[in-house]
Amino acid sequence: MQAVETIKITHVEKSSLHQIDWNNLPFGKFFTDHMLEADFINGEWTNIQIRPYSSLQLSPATAVFHYGQAIFEGIKAYKTADGKISIFRPEENWKRFNLSATRLEMPEVLEDLFLEGMRQLIQLDQAWVPATPEYSLYIRPFMIATDPVIGVKPSETYKFMVILSPSGPYYVEPLKIYVEEKYTRAAPGGVGFSKNAGNYAGSMLATSIARKAGYDQVLWTDAFEHKYLQEVGVMNVFFLIGNTAITPSLEEGTILAGITRDSAIQVLRDMGYQVEERPIQIDEVISAHKDGTLREIFGTGTAATIAMIQQLSYRDYTIQFDTTQWEVAPLLKKNINNIRDQIVPDTRGWLFPVNY
Ligand code: COI
Repeated sequence: MQAVETIKITHVEKSSLHQIDWNNLPFGKFFTDHMLEADFINGEWTNIQIRPYSSLQLSPATAVFHYGQAIFEGIKAYKTADGKISIFRPEENWKRFNLSATRLEMPEVLEDLFLEGMRQLIQLDQAWVPATPEYSLYIRPFMIATDPVIGVKPSETYKFMVILSPSGPYYVEPLKIYVEEKYTRAAPGGVGFSKNAGNYAGSMLATSIARKAGYDQVLWTDAFEHKYLQEVGVMNVFFLIGNTAITPSLEEGTILAGITRDSAIQVLRDMGYQVEERPIQIDEVISAHKDGTLREIFGTGTAATIAMIQQLSYRDYTIQFDTTQWEVAPLLKKNINNIRDQIVPDTRGWLFPVNY
């Protein structure tokens, strides 16, 4: 494999940074001047380059359009008040990216290409990293199958890319969610744990139905009984019952192993809460609500960060919260923010430096 220090860089002729309204940055709508690109050909990564952000030219027969070999990651970079830029736990995203790749019979991306490529790209576009609270540079690595052949088989060629989007918060308000019983996101043995495009395509119908009914997202349940809780659209989920935060376990392979989920587990334990990763049924949540021990429900995700859930509906039973009274989710969010903003020491080595 080509050494990544030799990444070829072609600079944009005219930056579009001046077009950005820093006070109005919807999630994932604007992209920085440059992108990283590499091709997998003859069993190795080649053509590694950073070049001006632009459209791709692909044959209509390109494999990804037909059979969906497409995986991605979501990562964030932050800038501190004194201009230090760091990426939050990207090594974990690299590992998860390769788990997704393996499940979809795609090649692994080498650590150096993923991490050093991303670092150099962000360093080049560092003026695009927001320093405003709740804003960040959203990093989107992805890989697609590129054989121009429509026979059903794993592609022999692939494209790996990283694009960057300065973004505001994904969710602004606490969320309203209902428990989905008709549609299924993932079953054991399937692809639920992988971050592949098809999982998101498969969630669109149920989410649209939920939106029309006044909800923001659905909470997915298991494929057999529709009782065991899995995850919410773009987030993992936590239920705080008494002093224990319960989150669905990863063992069945039906939910995404969220990196924010893992960070939340570690920080909640630091905060003195018990954390249990285990199967949890909707009935347990409702019983806890009825007996007054259900304190908070929140989601965790890179895009969503820590998102409070103000309403959870299951059939005709609705759990409603006044989230302004909550202590734990807001404090958890603040504690994680303090690490990434370097207000407290990064004792776990979660920050990957870009420019210092
Ligand atoms: C993320 O949280 O980064 C995600 O990938 C979720 C979503 C925006 C698809």
